Amino acid sequence: MLQRTERGKTKTILVAGGAGFVGSHLCDALLARGHRVIAVDCFLTGSEANVRPLLNHPNFRLIERDICEVKSLDEAVDEIYNLACAASPPHYQADPVHTMMTCVVGTGNLLALAEKHGASFLQASTSEVYGDPEEHPQREDYRGSVNCTGPRACYDEGKRAAEALCFDMLRAERVDARVVRIFNTYGPRMQPNDGRIVSNLIVQALSGKPLTIYGTGEQTRSFCYVSDLVAGLIALMEVNPNPGQPVNIGNPGEFTINELAEMVVAMVPTDSSIVYNPLPKDDPQRRRPDISRAKELLGWEPKVPLAEGLRHTIDWFAASLADEAKPARRAVPAGLNGHGKSKDQPGVSLPLGA
Ligand SMILES: NC(=O)c1ccc[n+]([C@@H]2O[C@H](COP(=O)([O-])OP(=O)(O)OC[C@H]3O[C@@H](n4cnc5c(N)ncnc54)[C@H](O)[C@@H]3O)[C@@H](O)[C@H]2O)c1
Repeated sequence: MLQRTERGKTKTILVAGGAGFVGSHLCDALLARGHRVIAVDCFLTGSEANVRPLLNHPNFRLIERDICEVKSLDEAVDEIYNLACAASPPHYQADPVHTMMTCVVGTGNLLALAEKHGASFLQASTSEVYGDPEEHPQREDYRGSVNCTGPRACYDEGKRAAEALCFDMLRAERVDARVVRIFNTYGPRMQPNDGRIVSNLIVQALSGKPLTIYGTGEQTRSFCYVSDLVAGLIALMEVNPNPGQPVNIGNPGEFTINELAEMVVAMVPTDSSIVYNPLPKDDPQRRRPDISRAKELLGWEPKVPLAEGLRHTIDWFAASLADEAKPARRAVPAGLNGHGKSKDQPGVSLPLGA
């Protein structure tokens, strides 16, 4: 029988992808709970700027490493969250082979590490495992409609393979593995240029550029604020016993892209017009999580309404765009200017075995 870490004790927690959008918020939340956090990230789509305020935190350590190369760690860990993977289509399609390897080889490496340390493991999967769904809303027992040879397959099928690996390790009683299927999440620290709909529309509106909508804009999405997602990730990692099945985490509120654009335009003073472009291949028409399982097993449901989460996100993007526009940028510690990859900062070390 797999033993899991005692609830409530101070733990050492590895967050792969910890310098990314969601990962950095997860690091914040785990540190705030008094845990020790080791973030591993190769800075493919994340940046040191996301964790800069944590670099001098005594309980935080940042390791620059690709999870495809991680074979060992020089200290014991109690839990591993695997969030490492480019998450937006332009980024995961830029090097699709690396995306697939990250999902399969990288997840395999981290599962092996979890087995070695007896650590609980949480895999960040995605609503993309449902593909362009024929069932609505999506329940976890829906098997999905994914094009396994299309341009999104590196991500969709990679994540499906990673889920399979987790459940194989769990069935074999080798790792206490858990799988969360994350639906669209937004908030501060999203990258301005990564092609995700919320950040795209906000940045375009703030810069007075036309708002770009793909397709008719009548396709729907659900939008979960990042603090709600992080609460769900921690709840799934900590629930006892292991649910032994994937759990959807997302906000079931469903909006068309046109409705989202109208909200952004109403909240950002802008003269921006809306332009419609062709829909990318295999783009899903409808997305909405059924979160009954998360409610029942974790007692979790989202708390932040879209208008409130958009307000925080718009304010954050407005401040960061204003900061970028300043001629003399705010002084930053040496080695941390830009998408830092410095290896000699306090708190930055590289003793992961290759
Ligand atoms: N944000 C969402 O709406 C959403 C939706 C579904 C699933 N997810 C999943 O959640 C996780 C985090 O997503 P995010 O939105 O924070 O994306 P992100 O791109 O901001 O974060 C991913 C992080 O992983 C790092 N990374 C990528 N490949 C790596 C590798 N091989 N080795 C080490 N680090 C690597 C990146 O540098 C980045 O810091 C991803 O696994 C993603 O698939 C996110």
